[in-house]
Amino acid sequence: MTFLYKSDPTRGLEWARLFAQKAPELPFRIWPDVGDPGEVRFLAAWMPPAEIMATFPNLELLFSVGAGVDQFDFSALPQELPVVRMVEPGIIDSMVEYATLAVLALHRDLVTYAAQQREQVWRQIRVRPAAQRRVGILGLGTLGEAVSRKLAGFGFPVAGWSRSRRAIEGVTCYAGADEMKAFLARSDILVCLLPLTAETRGILGADLFAMLPEGARLANCGRGGHLDQDALLSALDSGRISAAVLDVTDPEPLPAGHPLWNHPQILVTPHIASMTQPETAVDVVLDNLKRHRAGEPLVGLVDRGRGY
Ligand code: GLV
Repeated sequence: MTFLYKSDPTRGLEWARLFAQKAPELPFRIWPDVGDPGEVRFLAAWMPPAEIMATFPNLELLFSVGAGVDQFDFSALPQELPVVRMVEPGIIDSMVEYATLAVLALHRDLVTYAAQQREQVWRQIRVRPAAQRRVGILGLGTLGEAVSRKLAGFGFPVAGWSRSRRAIEGVTCYAGADEMKAFLARSDILVCLLPLTAETRGILGADLFAMLPEGARLANCGRGGHLDQDALLSALDSGRISAAVLDVTDPEPLPAGHPLWNHPQILVTPHIASMTQPETAVDVVLDNLKRHRAGEPLVGLVDRGRGY
């Protein structure tokens, strides 16, 4: 019975050390050193290998090493194979930090100031109190909820939108397609923390931008596929959107010369908002293995129908 890890090999070594310490009875291997493929019962992967079931016929559980599972082709995975997203404190904390950073940067005009600095321009923009800047969190899963709570603490009026209704203290919760328009109309800064699914691909596009207040600001902390990049460039040119912080792009890495790189109102970071931390992730994975053995519900189990 083997646990196989297939992702960044440096972090894999940390997983190996933690497994050796916390679950010495469970053999742990790092791709491509798979050993006997028939022994592989558990796989933690960013990109799973092709022909996953043909390669590992006795696989019992598939873990994503990241919060998202959009990189998996579900049609190639048997229905009965449980797929688990990474829900671990390290990933949540770093997303809270990044989303806070992005919102504060947008709120305090940092993207404009970075452009001004490149031009050696000293021009002050009047400071607006947080209470007068409405923040909207698109997606209220584990990450969106933690982010919304933190931002409410700064005094921003915070609202969130999710498919099904949530209740979060201090956060106005909108739900479903019917309430999307009202949610967007009150979002001066919009933060995308949705999972990427067939329904959410391209959601950050011209139609959505048209529903935001004039001059709204955008932070995409989800996936590059959420954003219609051309629509963003047009919205920036027209002033509909005034600045954007993008941690994700499509494709990644963003190719040299791409218009997003040099736009004065865009700040790009290379998909670093949040990373799984081996220390805390291994505890969550081992807890899920225990739950699996005991037939208990898994933390982060993906609902195939929803796609996340
Ligand atoms: C990173 O993007 C992740 O899904 O964890």
